[in-house]
Amino acid sequence: MVFYHRLGKIPHKRHTAFRNPEGDLYPEHLMGNLGFSGIKSLLYTLRPPTRLSRIERLSERRPEPEPSESLHLRHFKTHDLTAPGPSVVLDRIPLLFNEDVAVSLARPSADDPFFYRNGQADEVVFVTEGEGVLESQMGSLDYRQGDYLVIPKGIIHRFRLGGANHILLILETRGYVRTPARYRNAHGQLLEHSPFCERDIRPPSRLTPHDEAGEFPVLVKSKNALLRMILAHHPFDTVGWDGYYYPWAFNISDFEPITGRIHQPPPVHQTFEGDGFVLCSFVPRLFDYHPDAIPAPYNHSNIGSDEVLYYCNGEFMSRKGIEYGSITLHPDGMPHGPHPGKTEASIGLKETRELAVMLDTFKPLHVAKTALPCEDTAYQGSWLEKPA
Ligand SMILES: [Fe+2]
Repeated sequence: MVFYHRLGKIPHKRHTAFRNPEGDLYPEHLMGNLGFSGIKSLLYTLRPPTRLSRIERLSERRPEPEPSESLHLRHFKTHDLTAPGPSVVLDRIPLLFNEDVAVSLARPSADDPFFYRNGQADEVVFVTEGEGVLESQMGSLDYRQGDYLVIPKGIIHRFRLGGANHILLILETRGYVRTPARYRNAHGQLLEHSPFCERDIRPPSRLTPHDEAGEFPVLVKSKNALLRMILAHHPFDTVGWDGYYYPWAFNISDFEPITGRIHQPPPVHQTFEGDGFVLCSFVPRLFDYHPDAIPAPYNHSNIGSDEVLYYCNGEFMSRKGIEYGSITLHPDGMPHGPHPGKTEASIGLKETRELAVMLDTFKPLHVAKTALPCEDTAYQGSWLEKPA
């Protein structure tokens, strides 16, 4: 959605005859969201995208909430969880969810023998560890550690893992993922005060059409179920496309932190927005420069909002006891702030090396049953401890 991009061969005019060297028409395929009113791309393919030989239902994909829901501060050591298998699609571990977003963890170790299309959600895949290539109908996009991979709803894709050591935090969102509106001008261009710009955003860069007929399985997620669709040709047969609808990458290390003389609130870390949530990046940065500034945040109660932090290293200035891969959940209105002693200890510090991804939702989150085995149940009581 970020800017106009084109790859491969396309005709000068839309919806005009565009032929292959044998004189046959390349089929056109318009893909976009919000009916015909949202962003879109126009693809030219070797074969029509409509050549489905069959569709079958495989399984339900509805996360199950914990049996007894509560309201307290939570901490999960997610990297202690073992993935049930090697697939980036089939072996996700649900962690948190509501009707707008779902968060899961995946630790894929082998390429899937099928393609994938999430038909009910945009996905933001945060590459905590790993590198490889995200292949899609729009071409290939190299990814690396620290990337947010934004994969809009409905785009057929697959991961080509560049090694077995992957840790991915996956966010699925009912609404579409976009850059914060306040950082865009009326033309959609990112403004000068945005903490990142178009140069930091990587669209697919290579397009190689696959000219193969046969049986190609595409797993499709729809209505919280997984379907298997058999295409009669390779789904990556695009010869050219242009538009705004495509997967893209943004690396967290390209987020330029906004700092100030006194403590800056979490919205300065905002990176994405969607329906019912915002996503923020906490990156290494200099601390506040007022001589009496308190760099640690003040206690706060986010009423009507659930706050999730995913810690991408073991450092976070206001907390103790968290570790690489921790997720904390501070639900609706529950007061929280620095751990005992952390406020005083932050005074005079010049910088932080913390790296974290924050999700704020505007509807309450459910904790998935599958997250419970890694919960640190002592977390709520940790504010009662004496300063270290
Ligand atoms: Fe908070």
